[in-house]
Amino acid sequence: MKTELITPEHIDEAVQLLKNGHIVAFPTETVYGLGAIANNELAVKRIFEVKGRPSDNPLIVHVASKDISAYVEELPEYAERLMEHFWPGPLTIICQAKDNLFAPSVSHGRKTIAFRMPKNEVTLSLIEKVGFPLVGPSANQSGKPSPTRAAHVLDDFFGRIEGVLYGENAGIGIESTVVDLTQREGIVILRPGAITEKDLIDFPLKDYSITELHEDTVPKAPGMKYKHYAPRQPIYLIDSQSPDLWEKAIRQFRMQQAKIGILADENLVECYDQQVDKVYSLGAIEDVNSAAKHLYDGLRFFDKSDVDVILAQAYEKRHLGVALMNRLEKAAGGRYFTQEGDKV
Ligand code: TXA
Ligand code: MG
Repeated sequence: MKTELITPEHIDEAVQLLKNGHIVAFPTETVYGLGAIANNELAVKRIFEVKGRPSDNPLIVHVASKDISAYVEELPEYAERLMEHFWPGPLTIICQAKDNLFAPSVSHGRKTIAFRMPKNEVTLSLIEKVGFPLVGPSANQSGKPSPTRAAHVLDDFFGRIEGVLYGENAGIGIESTVVDLTQREGIVILRPGAITEKDLIDFPLKDYSITELHEDTVPKAPGMKYKHYAPRQPIYLIDSQSPDLWEKAIRQFRMQQAKIGILADENLVECYDQQVDKVYSLGAIEDVNSAAKHLYDGLRFFDKSDVDVILAQAYEKRHLGVALMNRLEKAAGGRYFTQEGDKV
């Protein structure tokens, strides 16, 4: 299959492909999405197929306007304020959808649908020109790190989807915050993202604990239960404040003849560069925004490299650090390197 590489000036080609029932990846401020028209059941089904995504993991519907009244049943009174405040932007809201508007596979037969208005002019114009919302799961093979650049999408899907609409590299770099608005008691955060609890302080939050982060609870956003974001190699998380731990880990893996990669801020990278095989800098010391922006590119860099093990810096779980560490812990399968050796 030919994959068209479409620049924004040729957006009409992307529109036509989508209207013909094909798949076109599109840029957003969080990560690239794998687009199909949300009422085309065959196209939506194909998205699950090419991604290798379990069918019980529903898709986000991307809209180009803050007015979603045509698609949803009643919304809580604060919903409009929420959209006014955060859209376009990295917030996905789950609401009761009207019947028979979207392809059944979008939400695996659920009554609820997740909506998001991405902050990307090209993609907003794509949705407008298509004239109907687009489904858009992250444009990566299921389980692999999400794509923050068009090149990442091509790595996973070249020859397997009809088009990629080129755009800027994602500015945020990790997926949107997903919130459930269907609970009477208030907003429930199902997936942490760049809109943090602190940003939602003026809204009724049901519960400040992110229940989905605990694997033993039943996840409300089904996507959170799957292995995610992982490169080929095992990752060990290490506390940035413990130089002795970094040295111990490097010594231990050296003894095992393992090729070592380090994914960390520029200070740590500079510190250990000479002692390991490959490094990827996430940016200035403890700069969480930069770390989020570069995380998936870093994971993909190592995935393609010949290193056997990745030592990754654990950031503080504050504000955006919550979402960053959520992704990193999933990529690492919860594995930390500690004084006692590795620990899951
Ligand atoms: O930033 C993003 O959200 C990106 C860009 C492309 O917009 N999209 C994205 O989609 O991350 P995806 O499919 O990779 O993740 C969607 C998450 C999954 O964890 C899924 O289970 C959850 O949202 N979700 C979608 N619809 C849901 C629903 N009706 N109820 C509960 N969870 C839902
Ligand atoms: Mg995803």
